Amino acid sequence: MNRSADETNRQSLQVDLGERSYTIHIGALGIREPAEFAKLLDPLIAGQQVAVITNETVAPLYLDAVLGALGQRQVDVYQLPDGESHKNLASFEAVTTFLLEARHNRTTCLIALGGGVVGDLCGFVAATFQRGVDFIQIPTTLLAQVDSSVGGKTAVNHPAGKNMIGAFYQPKAVLADTTVLATLPPREYAAGLAEVVKYGVIDDVEFFRWLEANVAALRSRSSDALQQVILRSCASKAKVVSEDERESGRRAILNFGHTFGHAIEKLAGYGQWLHGEAVAIGMVMAADLSVRHCGFAQVDALRLRHLLEALGLPVTLGDQELETQAMIEAMGLDKKVSDGQLRFVLARQLGEVYVCDDVSVQTLKAVLDPSQS
Ligand SMILES: NC(=O)c1ccc[n+]([C@@H]2O[C@H](COP(=O)([O-])OP(=O)(O)OC[C@H]3O[C@@H](n4cnc5c(N)ncnc54)[C@H](O)[C@@H]3O)[C@@H](O)[C@H]2O)c1
Ligand SMILES: [Zn+2]
Repeated sequence: MNRSADETNRQSLQVDLGERSYTIHIGALGIREPAEFAKLLDPLIAGQQVAVITNETVAPLYLDAVLGALGQRQVDVYQLPDGESHKNLASFEAVTTFLLEARHNRTTCLIALGGGVVGDLCGFVAATFQRGVDFIQIPTTLLAQVDSSVGGKTAVNHPAGKNMIGAFYQPKAVLADTTVLATLPPREYAAGLAEVVKYGVIDDVEFFRWLEANVAALRSRSSDALQQVILRSCASKAKVVSEDERESGRRAILNFGHTFGHAIEKLAGYGQWLHGEAVAIGMVMAADLSVRHCGFAQVDALRLRHLLEALGLPVTLGDQELETQAMIEAMGLDKKVSDGQLRFVLARQLGEVYVCDDVSVQTLKAVLDPSQS
């Protein structure tokens, strides 16, 4: 992973994965200026065919600009309806059929223009269409820019579970234009910040301190602050992914707060909490568990809670208390369970976490229902 600053308002980061290495471009990339954006896209597109996969919310905002940068190639556009419920096999089949009917061949290049839903689906189509074609990520949510577009996980959901059908498949490049975040709804923006805070906890205490010092700039979506946030988040994610591309070990630390978060999402009913909101509450629980199980400093658990709150995120379930037993069961069914053990990513200190599988049910209950302890 190498960082380089081309110009002050944009930077790039190389993800080192041998021949699957690629560059993440971050900053004001000129997505609204076709001539400017074409300079980034042209070298990435080998053939004469391109298909842009986007959705009905993002298309009116950014599609024309991106089409303007694609020049004289054959360009086809598939617009999905908005929402997680469309990240499924039916959409996968519809996009594949669309590509076949428009006669796309092995040299086509797919472009994912949207949030994580569009990126995950488009990436999975790219992984499988004619046994794999090039794809470029143009993530348009903060969550997609700091998390889902990096790392090569692609998937669709099955009625039996989220992301149950997918592939590891790396993009040719990621173009994260910070200016598109201006139109993101406030809750979606804050939800992305939860994953950003996660990187500070799992990998980079310096970054955690920087976030604490820059809350106002983050809340106002300052482009300089966002460029820093995306660069440092992607650097952490790329580092972890480079060490363990297929999640056989270390990559699991990216799930800090997620064992709780997934259980909250599931029990409250999908759609009640945004993923990042559930992860924020989950990280506060994971920090509490770390205090009780492995000596994480209480004062640092409080700092985490305060930072999340300052960024506009929920840190408790509020009046939506969930049954302790139901939470434990929901976690037991979580896919991060290995060999029947409950697995948690716990913090030893800010910036240092480890995967732990010897948490007692009693300690866990104390976290879920502090009134009982
Ligand atoms: N592949 C991975 O490693 C990975 C990691 C984390 C999450 N994910 C997946 O990502 C998905 C969630 O992604 P998400 O949070 O980006 O949700 P999303 O794609 O549903 O986007 C959130 C909302 O914002 C809208 N939107 C997108 N860009 C916008 C913009 N610039 N302006 C205004 N509105 C905009 C979308 O249309 C949608 O309504 C989930 O399916 C999750 O499983 C994947
Ligand atoms: Zn997450």
